[in-house]
Amino acid sequence: MSSGPIDLRDREPYTLDQFRVNNEHKDDLEYVLLSEGEIESRVSGLAAAITREYDSRENVDLYANCVLKGAMRFFGALIPRIEVRAPVSEGVIRASRYRAGKPGSKETEVRWLDRDLIEGRDILVVEDIIDEGYTLQAVIDHLEEYNPQSIEVATLFDKVSNRKIEIDVKFTGFTIPDEFVVGYGLDYDERYRNLRHLAVLTEEARNA
Ligand code: IMP
Ligand code: MG
Repeated sequence: MSSGPIDLRDREPYTLDQFRVNNEHKDDLEYVLLSEGEIESRVSGLAAAITREYDSRENVDLYANCVLKGAMRFFGALIPRIEVRAPVSEGVIRASRYRAGKPGSKETEVRWLDRDLIEGRDILVVEDIIDEGYTLQAVIDHLEEYNPQSIEVATLFDKVSNRKIEIDVKFTGFTIPDEFVVGYGLDYDERYRNLRHLAVLTEEARNA
């Protein structure tokens, strides 16, 4: 039985009126790609896969790191559902691609990582979404400098068709179309994180 990602690229989306969507957000959204309930059910499935993986290893010392800010909701739902027979601790990483004045910049700044806690431990990087892959690669490169025992990645969403660099991602929630999505913690210009479902933003809202 496969525990691979759920592929949404050819699935019929939901219309906005099929769910309860905050009026403040409604005009800016094209459609709902995933409901909160579907996301959370899949998070349970991911937690089970993560538990199986680490329970099959020896001497696990799991250190789960939330890549801020987009992964906060995912992290909060995921970690309590992981039930490994090993200690689990939690940390945060801030990663941002420098975009100001440099469109498409590949430079990524990585901050807030607690380097003293990384050596010899099993790092689980918890991401909201992978697009081209540069952000995650920068996080992994940074972590590797402090000699962890292992590094794995759990991402809730993956725009796999847009990937520019290859990254080994062990746990993926959903493969999604190449559209700009917001909600369930993901933002556009710091807005829409509080939207409960995952939705596609209109072109107009992105250009506003
Ligand atoms: P990458 O370096 O191209 O993989 O970009 C990944 C980062 O860009 C993610 O961690 C998000 O912060 C952001 N991002 C990429 N696509 C989206 C999206 O559709 N909605 C919201 N944020 C996104
Ligand atoms: Mg992110």
